[in-house]
Amino acid sequence: MKNRSNFSGKLGFVLAAAGSAVGLGNIWRFPYLAAQYGGGTFLIIYLILAVTFGFSLMVAEIAIGRKTGLSAIGAFKALDSRFGFLGVLAALVPIIIFPYYSVIGGWVVKYFSVFLTGQGAQAASDEYFGGFVGGTFEPIGWFLIFLGATAVIVLLGVEKGIEKVSKFMMPILVLLTLGISVYCLTLDGALDGLAYYVQPHMADFSVKTILAAMGQLFYSMSLAMGIMVTYGSYMRKDTSLESSVRQIEIFDTAIAFLAGLMIIPAVFVFSGGDPKMLSSGPSLMFVMLPKVFASMPMGNIIGVAFFVLVIFAALTSSISLMETIVSIFRDKFHWGRKNACIFVAVLALILGIPSSLGFGPLSFITWSGMTILDIMDFTSNSVLMPIVAFFTCIFVGYVIKPKTIADEVRENGAKFTGEKLFNVMIKWITPIFLILILVSSVANAMGWFKL
Ligand code: PHE
Repeated sequence: MKNRSNFSGKLGFVLAAAGSAVGLGNIWRFPYLAAQYGGGTFLIIYLILAVTFGFSLMVAEIAIGRKTGLSAIGAFKALDSRFGFLGVLAALVPIIIFPYYSVIGGWVVKYFSVFLTGQGAQAASDEYFGGFVGGTFEPIGWFLIFLGATAVIVLLGVEKGIEKVSKFMMPILVLLTLGISVYCLTLDGALDGLAYYVQPHMADFSVKTILAAMGQLFYSMSLAMGIMVTYGSYMRKDTSLESSVRQIEIFDTAIAFLAGLMIIPAVFVFSGGDPKMLSSGPSLMFVMLPKVFASMPMGNIIGVAFFVLVIFAALTSSISLMETIVSIFRDKFHWGRKNACIFVAVLALILGIPSSLGFGPLSFITWSGMTILDIMDFTSNSVLMPIVAFFTCIFVGYVIKPKTIADEVRENGAKFTGEKLFNVMIKWITPIFLILILVSSVANAMGWFKL
């Protein structure tokens, strides 16, 4: 425990955790969910959940990691031997996410190459994206490239290099996203889009929206899958835990918000706020952004820059996903690093191919209107993560007690200003809420009743 290598200082910790948190979840997933679930309604629910649920869970996970100096599977077990199962359950989440994350990563690489070869204008047509993902081998090829790049980085252990590069890239990504969204807002019709994005409407409030926002929160902040426990295990005792959590949350949420600002008003500009377009799901960013770039001066170059930055943001997240899975197999079966990496890459390949084909030859396989990729996404974000989060709350609230976490937060004389909120959230509100959400989401997906 003592000789675990540490992040140097608070900035190092915040940047590393933000590297895992900021990724496709913010840029690709958040905007399409917000578009689909009523814009401002989704946004406000998300923000409320972030400062209550998100804050409490992230504090708990990082504190558990720092206290034990272990990653998820070992950490829960070390604190109470009956809770070893929770680490195993948490470990399942990245195993499900990583393959389809790499499929989407492949789409981003494809769009980068499209703009690089000056074909941005073609990509702006309505049919382009569907034609691409509907293919058999092409999307798999791009998926392989993204997965291969992640695997090589993890295998060679050169994450540090990537993290260094992404420390430059992230601020540029923020600025570019800001610039693109400001540009979008100047277009005709954009203000209707802005209004849709920021104004909540009571009529859109529903259990489904809350569930979607909650799943997104877990996903985007890399919660309920043991990753933050691992990050916490590397955190120094003299780094302020509470303010680190706040900074990660603000950073992650700000980027998601900006991504929405860049994509949602564009739906109103280019498709007149067509409800079908708003609810188009995973394809939204890939359909809208080329239209935005095509309408801009120097759009092709901006497209190249944008997609390369997104590739880096996605890579730092996929690396943290793969690292987690590799260390799970290494700890469990005592494999060497190389064998574990190869095994995980092949596993991701096998699990990822159906997600990719689900938009083409396997598109007849659907469940409750969801494609294979959506089903994997639903299973991890709307089923497994709420379960892991629920047991984490029970574990902290009733087994090790919130005070254990609070004491860890207060190490080295730090204050814990959110302690009262934390206690109520962990013991009562979060677990009750999670049970309600979980039951209703499964019931809905099974078609027992419609929400
Ligand atoms: N949080 C990442 C994103 O928003 C996705 C991710 C999930 C990364 C889980 C690591 C672990 O893209």
